[in-house]
Amino acid sequence: MNVLSIETSCDETSISLVQDSEIRNRILSLVTRSQIKEHEAYGGVVPELAARAHLTNIEPIFKQSLQEAKFDLKDIDHIAVTAGPGLIGGVLVGVMLAKTLSMSLDKPMYAINHLEGHALTARLSHDVPYPYLLLLTSGGHCMFVEVLGFRQYRLLGQTLDDAAGECFDKIAKLLNFDFPGGPALEKKAVHGDAYRFAFPKPLEHSLKPNFSFSGLKTAVKQTIEKNPPDDQTACDIAASFQYTIGEIFKERTAKALGCSNHKVERLVMAGGVAANKYLRKELSDFCAQKSIEAVFPPMNLCTDNAAMIGWAAIEAIQNGIKPSGHDFAPKPRWPLEQLSF
Ligand code: KG4
Ligand code: ZN
Repeated sequence: MNVLSIETSCDETSISLVQDSEIRNRILSLVTRSQIKEHEAYGGVVPELAARAHLTNIEPIFKQSLQEAKFDLKDIDHIAVTAGPGLIGGVLVGVMLAKTLSMSLDKPMYAINHLEGHALTARLSHDVPYPYLLLLTSGGHCMFVEVLGFRQYRLLGQTLDDAAGECFDKIAKLLNFDFPGGPALEKKAVHGDAYRFAFPKPLEHSLKPNFSFSGLKTAVKQTIEKNPPDDQTACDIAASFQYTIGEIFKERTAKALGCSNHKVERLVMAGGVAANKYLRKELSDFCAQKSIEAVFPPMNLCTDNAAMIGWAAIEAIQNGIKPSGHDFAPKPRWPLEQLSF
């Protein structure tokens, strides 16, 4: 089963060829182009520019992806595409290509939820068995989900305001770090003193494993505004902020473990923020103390990529899910729990 998959929901244009083989040979090609140049002058993703860049880039990426897999159009068995949630202009570009390929090649198409792609990535990369506890943390989402089986998602908690990735990006921008902010902040934090500034951990005393990052963001902003930082202070603020996120993640994971209906044996971290090495180490040490296995997909599969979309389609096919009709409407908002049977 060879699946050609397309991801265009934010600022990465990505196309992959994925197959349902043993773990080493699953990803036959994965070509991802980030739109850093297009957005860096604005310090954030501009939706219209993102959509236009997807339109420009999608054809060469499609060709490169086929070439790298040494594939011909006739070798494609199924088409998978991110159909939401995300920036709708970008999603439309991917969905149009998917529909065109599906109609012209007469192959079935699967409209995939982007969050489901992140949620199942550790099964693509590590063959993680169900059930597991998922911490999905990206630019638009931050949530704990009990993944009990395919399309059996139980939401345990989520952010009540900003996502963690968004918070990384905004603080990096305030500190005049490079774009994209998350990875830039992580690099600066390596040179900083994580204990210099004590930042708040909103919802610390809540019983539920929810998150809130807006108060933390405001506290960091006020620290920056009070004393415009020199280079070292900027690194110290970055390190103190990242440390606070690590503490919040560990504390909320402990709460999520208490809310789970099953004995958790594995924690999977997914989404762009899961590419942060400091946070991976903190969560991995935390899990080791609790005798829980911590699983992190490789970096290029944490951030947005089409391979995870192809894999989600493979699991859908294996579970007897019917292909999507060509009248499927892309969804800017599409909560993961809505997919549950
Ligand atoms: O999953 P993703 O690629 O796109 C969304 O679905 O949102 O996540 C992007 C987010 C951005 O906010 C980005 O700054 C953050 O993930 N991110 C990081 C790191 N790499 C990406 N945050 C912290 N440290 C990183 N190394
Ligand atoms: Zn994502």
